[in-house]
Amino acid sequence: MPEPTPPRLAVVIPCYNEAANVAPMVARLDAALAGIGWEAIFVDDDSPDGTAARARAIAATDPRVRCIRRIGRRGLASACIEGILSTSARYVAVIDGDLQHDETILPAMLAALESNEADVAIGSRNVDGGTKGEGLSPIRRLVSDGGAALANAALPVRVGDPMSGFFALPRALFEEVAPRLTGTGFKILLDVLLSAGRPLRVTEIPYTFRAREAGESKLDAGVLLEFGGLLADKALGGVVPLRFMAFALVGGIGVLVHLTVLGLLHGIGPLGFGAAQWAATFVAMTANFLLNNRITYRDRRLRGPVLLRGLVLFYLVCGIGAAANVGIAGLLVRDDLLGWGLAGAAGALLTVVWNYAVSSTLVWRAR
Ligand code: GDD
Ligand code: MN
Repeated sequence: MPEPTPPRLAVVIPCYNEAANVAPMVARLDAALAGIGWEAIFVDDDSPDGTAARARAIAATDPRVRCIRRIGRRGLASACIEGILSTSARYVAVIDGDLQHDETILPAMLAALESNEADVAIGSRNVDGGTKGEGLSPIRRLVSDGGAALANAALPVRVGDPMSGFFALPRALFEEVAPRLTGTGFKILLDVLLSAGRPLRVTEIPYTFRAREAGESKLDAGVLLEFGGLLADKALGGVVPLRFMAFALVGGIGVLVHLTVLGLLHGIGPLGFGAAQWAATFVAMTANFLLNNRITYRDRRLRGPVLLRGLVLFYLVCGIGAAANVGIAGLLVRDDLLGWGLAGAAGALLTVVWNYAVSSTLVWRAR
């Protein structure tokens, strides 16, 4: 007979290319959580190195181990959310799958929650006793400290290590907050704290961040951008979709590219205005496409042959958008509804909304 009650603690382990770390992870949890009913949920985004298969192999003989394999999607935060929502345990913890977090403090984190000392228990690298250890390069440390300062400016509570990916909380609290989460990027804990709608009681338990033994870090410049986006999203109350903001920002860069090319070809160079305008439009659209592919839709990034197909589609979408822009602005001016400045702005806004709506469903459609 299986245990009739759900485990006391569910440990959610987001993984991407962590095959070599799966078995050691289970062994470490087994040792650290002796006497506590637990389950481990590996959430793998279809890693090419076969991470999911390793987890399944262990799950075949150990009912405490489960695996969620997500196809066509990437993202640490969304992986954590899905893992947490898949359990019925009373308490949930999130821990990196690369063994950099110290699992031996999990019982202390659970105790802090069960005694109702705190709403969220955070494994912290910044409080007394905790250390960044060998785990961070000097640049990563700088980014991490800067990010922590920025995050604390936004947070209703002071947290020594708000960027931590190692924390635990009651599942009920997470379920309450889940519908409001931004869900992009790396900073799921920060997202929870910012989305709770009230200051959560936080306790921080120090640990030493270990160096990675196998595999490599997935944190890159794009992740930092997402972090900025998360803060912006929460600052704006989540009214304007994050993707739209990124799209509009890229659009703004596109305008600069357009004007630069126009200036080079027509202002300085020999081309007539019409021809230069066409060339500038193409260069700007191409730049916008590539930037959106890297930033706005980095989780749905197109590569290889579909990249070309996407680019052609994007030209089409933007072409229709531009025609609508010119048409609408023309009507508004002709009927004397708006002056040319406002009419132009209205046309431009309409174009951005159109381009965004259509390209996110056609060019970068969610799979
Ligand atoms: N499912 C899934 N999908 N897992 C992912 C993804 C993804 O797209 N990207 C990363 N992971 C997993 C990794 O396999 C690892 O287990 C964990 O998430 C953390 O990723 P790392 O790439 O090892 O992150 P790090 O060590 O650079 O970052 C650490 O420090 C950050 C703060 O500076 C982590 O502790 C982060 O959680 C933390 O926010
Ligand atoms: Mn790591």
